[in-house]
Amino acid sequence: MAFAGTGKIWMNGKFVDWKDANIHIATHVIHYGSGVFEGARCYATTKGSACFRLEPHMRRLIESAKIYRMEYPLDLQSWMNVVLDTIRINEMKACYIRPLVYRGYKELGVNPLSIPVDAAVMVWDWGAYLGSGALEDGVDVKVSSWTRMAPNTLPAMAKSTANYANSALIKMEAVADGYSEAIALDVHGNISEGSGQNIFVVRDGAIFTPPLGSSILGGITRDSIITLARENGYGVTETVLPRESLYTADEVFFVGTAAEVTPVRSVDKIKVGAGKPGPVTLALQRAFFQVINGEVPDRHGWLTYVYPEEASLRTTPKVVAGRSR
Ligand SMILES: Cc1ncc(COP(=O)(O)O)c(C=O)c1O
Repeated sequence: MAFAGTGKIWMNGKFVDWKDANIHIATHVIHYGSGVFEGARCYATTKGSACFRLEPHMRRLIESAKIYRMEYPLDLQSWMNVVLDTIRINEMKACYIRPLVYRGYKELGVNPLSIPVDAAVMVWDWGAYLGSGALEDGVDVKVSSWTRMAPNTLPAMAKSTANYANSALIKMEAVADGYSEAIALDVHGNISEGSGQNIFVVRDGAIFTPPLGSSILGGITRDSIITLARENGYGVTETVLPRESLYTADEVFFVGTAAEVTPVRSVDKIKVGAGKPGPVTLALQRAFFQVINGEVPDRHGWLTYVYPEEASLRTTPKVVAGRSR
């Protein structure tokens, strides 16, 4: 969906109009991919607008920046406040949130250490990432001919702009071949992840997902789904998964901030299970949506409410003589 092109963007401590949030063509990040970023969501829950797991997202941003020696002078709480303020000033009820830390403008060269570190936060509307019907019916995917970054090349745990050159190759090939997404293998030929999502495989009621060592981003949705699955009585194992386990799985599903919980109904034109979303996927999708819609108590403190004036939505009505007031 194209940007509306309105609203405000936070840049280095100031809110600027969307149309004025520009950087110079000589900015380092454009030439050398020297940026790290986050993707989080704010949901319009039944109890008011709330960011989902804002703290771990901003912690990952700080850690990604640390890996690349580009620390920005905001601590975790300040980052969270900047995000909340950006949502508030834009009066968004629900939105996608994109904080970015990047090497700015001074000189060009491979050594980034002398280049200033700049930051921005933008928010906008973003709907179903893998197309309409994806969440309900599932998606058809292929195994990519591109592998994820090998360990000790580009760090997969850092959410760096540079890593998304690899993601773009995976995604473009998938789309060119008529699929909505692809699954990339790691350098050893084991399952890694999608271009922008983690992956889960279900067999005989047990759930498996590749470990951090399989060149994945340590997804916050992945962590949430592992927690929800265990709470719902499923065993979840983080383990190296061979490619062929995709073809013998009962269920396969993607998870991520953008993709949320999206069933995979075929891989390389081989049906996954019955070729439609399976019961474990649907149960976890439902559990996830109940949390992000505020329909169940927020047991883990995953929601950060945005607008103080909506606090009354969250007070439990007192029941007096069978009536609520
Ligand atoms: C490569 C990649 N893997 C996994 C994920 C899922 O991570 P999260 O659940 O934190 O959004 C993303 C999304 O940011 C991603 O880009």
